[in-house]
Amino acid sequence: MDMLSRQLMKEDDGMTKDKGHRTIQLAPSMMCADISLIPETLAAFDEGGAEWLHIDVMDGAFVPNMQIGVDYAHQLRTLSGIPLDIHLMVYEPGDKVAWFDPQPGEYVSVHYESTPHPQRVLADIRERGARAMIALNPATPIASIEYLLDDIDAVLIMTVNPGYAGQKLIPSTIGKIAALRSYLNERGHDNIEIEVDGNVSVPNAHKMIAAGADILVLGTSAIFKKDAALEGALQDFRKAISLK
Ligand code: DX5
Ligand code: ZN
Repeated sequence: MDMLSRQLMKEDDGMTKDKGHRTIQLAPSMMCADISLIPETLAAFDEGGAEWLHIDVMDGAFVPNMQIGVDYAHQLRTLSGIPLDIHLMVYEPGDKVAWFDPQPGEYVSVHYESTPHPQRVLADIRERGARAMIALNPATPIASIEYLLDDIDAVLIMTVNPGYAGQKLIPSTIGKIAALRSYLNERGHDNIEIEVDGNVSVPNAHKMIAAGADILVLGTSAIFKKDAALEGALQDFRKAISLK
């Protein structure tokens, strides 16, 4: 684990005190939702003020899993007014952005590692009125986005290797969040948001927020607990991550 991560992982309360005025946005991960309870789940997220519905799209090739298809994403739009945050874990995302018909105000993230032409895909997302987000796997260096800063509205830091819910945080990614925040601010891009995805538990969320995360993807570590009702889950999580 690098020094910065050790420092951030070690300091607990000290780091969570200084969150500044940032509003932390919550993005429940719909791949973790019980399909038999979708109406109740969406009602609970609406009640809980979820800023996004995180939609994990997986092709079985870029990641060793298959998740959330086009029709499901379209249906969610008819069932909920919460904007989609579509996470494309697919090869050749450029061909597939149109399938999801991104709407103004939604986020679409594409993996830097999934296409030789990230600018082209990011531009297409913006031309459709949606917000463009570049996603980085844990091992992908921050410097990879050096020539993409004018093409993005956010960066998604994977804090686990993408593909499955229920994995453990990769410790070095906490330092990576902080390094990314400094990298962006030093280049005059304070407005580019940081989303984190993977093992966002309450203790990890404190460290991620202290490091600079703006949007938290909530899965089995946060709200989708076995036999636990989702009603009030977002409100409880928001309380748990607020200033101590
Ligand atoms: C991972 C997925 C996320 C997330 C699920 O590929 O993109 O949805 O990990 O949350 P956890 O990690 O808490 O189960
Ligand atoms: Zn995701």
